[in-house]
Amino acid sequence: MVQDSSRFFLLVLAVSSFIYGSHSANILGLFPSPSPSHLIISMSAAKVLAEQGHNVTVVTVLEPTITHKNINLVQVPMTKEEIKQRSDTIGAKQKNISGSRLISILQMSGQMDSMLRKMADALKDERVKDLYLNKGNHFDLVISGYFMNDYQLGFARKVNAPVIVLAPSPPGQMLNSLIGNPSDTVEKDKNTSFAQRLDSFITNLFYQVFVRQIDHRNRRYYKELFADDPNMPDYSEMLKNTSLVFFCSHAASEGSIRPNVPAAIEIGGIQIKDKPEALPKNLEEFLSNATDGAILLSLGSNVQGSHIKSDTVEKMFNVLSKLKQRVIWKWEDLDNVPGKSDNILYSRWLPQDDILAHPNIKLFINHAGKGGITESQYHGKPMLSLPVFGDQPSNAFAMVKNGFGHTLSLLNLEEKPFKNAIEEILSNPQYSQRVALFSSLYRDRPKSARDSLIYWTEYVIRHHGAAHLQSPLVHMDFIAANNLDIYALFAAIFVGLFIIIKALVKLFFKVLIPKLSKITKVKKH
Ligand SMILES: *[C@@H]1O[C@H](CO)[C@@H](O)[C@H](O)[C@H]1NC(C)=O
Ligand SMILES: *[C@@H]1O[C@H](CO)[C@@H](O)[C@H](O)[C@H]1NC(C)=O
Ligand SMILES: *[C@@H]1O[C@H](CO)[C@@H](O)[C@H](O)[C@H]1NC(C)=O
Ligand SMILES: *[C@@H]1O[C@H](CO)[C@@H](O)[C@H](O)[C@H]1NC(C)=O
Ligand SMILES: *[C@@H]1O[C@H](CO)[C@@H](O)[C@H](O)[C@H]1NC(C)=O
Repeated sequence: MVQDSSRFFLLVLAVSSFIYGSHSANILGLFPSPSPSHLIISMSAAKVLAEQGHNVTVVTVLEPTITHKNINLVQVPMTKEEIKQRSDTIGAKQKNISGSRLISILQMSGQMDSMLRKMADALKDERVKDLYLNKGNHFDLVISGYFMNDYQLGFARKVNAPVIVLAPSPPGQMLNSLIGNPSDTVEKDKNTSFAQRLDSFITNLFYQVFVRQIDHRNRRYYKELFADDPNMPDYSEMLKNTSLVFFCSHAASEGSIRPNVPAAIEIGGIQIKDKPEALPKNLEEFLSNATDGAILLSLGSNVQGSHIKSDTVEKMFNVLSKLKQRVIWKWEDLDNVPGKSDNILYSRWLPQDDILAHPNIKLFINHAGKGGITESQYHGKPMLSLPVFGDQPSNAFAMVKNGFGHTLSLLNLEEKPFKNAIEEILSNPQYSQRVALFSSLYRDRPKSARDSLIYWTEYVIRHHGAAHLQSPLVHMDFIAANNLDIYALFAAIFVGLFIIIKALVKLFFKVLIPKLSKITKVKKH
């Protein structure tokens, strides 16, 4: 009896420490990025933490498609005008693509301005300010969704909590400096030629101009948001408070292989479920009956059907409707579909991740968004990418370089190359083999993306920040970090020695030579 009750007591203890052990923390996620694909990654992370029992409050400007009962949403919606403006910018990009990297960097910079503006305005909204003005609120951690918006890190100081940055990208120059992570100024490959390295170096110089511009704007927005509070530190000081950065990458399978400081945590694939969910009945049936395999076609959430030129859509339909494979086509306007065919199923919304997990899917035709490519790689499915703007062309290029498929420009898509590319990928097994190999590497990790996210988030909460984990480089200036002063000292010593030796040699010739010549003159006489 005594034993039983003590056992019961132990059980209660175990259960309660299971629930409260890493107690339910109050976490604030700032995710005001106007990019739907970023929001999917941020909300996937928030959902993982909510499922873990944490109380997660998130600030967004878009309506998230991912939710959970433990997530309190504070949405500062974009106005109709802003949505139209964003949609128009994307539409315009469809028709005008500049081949020059410099011009596209400048274009990106212009576009960035309105997006940064919107994100800063969201933080000024009364409901968002209430999060720190209302003394009843307490946060154990802030997660700052990254979109070139470092000023947002000031929010963590406002609520007096440690901060983790959640980046939708692999380690890059803009984020590396936050945690003292080393950056390469030249993209390196085993076999990069001199010309390629030079090209990469020069591109990087242009990129630095862009980075400076973004930094300048960040300072301005930081002042605008927080200058009224004398307790707020200087912008550069505030940046040094970052505990960790979560990167959405996995170097061991994706590359590039490079050193990372301990504060750089990779959670690539966080938006992908470890186990796929059951498909809606109509999709499941459509796919299971696809004896010749099936193709998924989705051009993402930014580029909607209406942005694509109508004759491009017609060409795509002509090719797809003649295939023996079945096709699931993501299409917004169901009253106005590209054409009717028995092998094509249109749907406004698709559980993309779960569909890609289906064994009958043999090809994914996409717009080369990072999210879609990651999902396809995770499930080991070859791709045909039709990029449009932003990072899409470079994502597509990298995918092709890895041997996972082909790419064609959506802007001047023609029937014949479209058909040939599809047939090549479906008939040649090398694409599916290479992507399957990648998939097995991508999934093989000591901790899944989900478990890493949970562990490191709770780690920062447990230790009230991770200052002990910071690279000293964060607190060193450029000169000290690169030992420039030591090099300067050695250079000065060398120059000094050189001057002294030169003077000695001169002296030697001035004093000794005349003496010697006197001696020889004497001898001659
Ligand atoms: C696209 O480019 C053409 C000329 O190349 C130019 O006339 C037009 O204004 C550009 N459109 C946009 C939306 O930038
Ligand atoms: C969750 O956090 C919000 C924001 O701080 C707070 O208003 C709410 O009371 C919290 N809920 C619980 C159950 O702690
Ligand atoms: C390196 O590049 C050269 C020329 O581009 C090529 O001939 C060679 O095979 C490449 N070596 C490797 C190891 O890829
Ligand atoms: C799938 O096949 C089953 C049996 O062969 C048939 O009853 C069903 O109608 C088919 N569904 C579709 C969507 O083709
Ligand atoms: C940042 O500031 C918070 C709150 O002031 C503190 O708890 C945390 O340890 C700091 N983190 C770092 C990395 O300095």
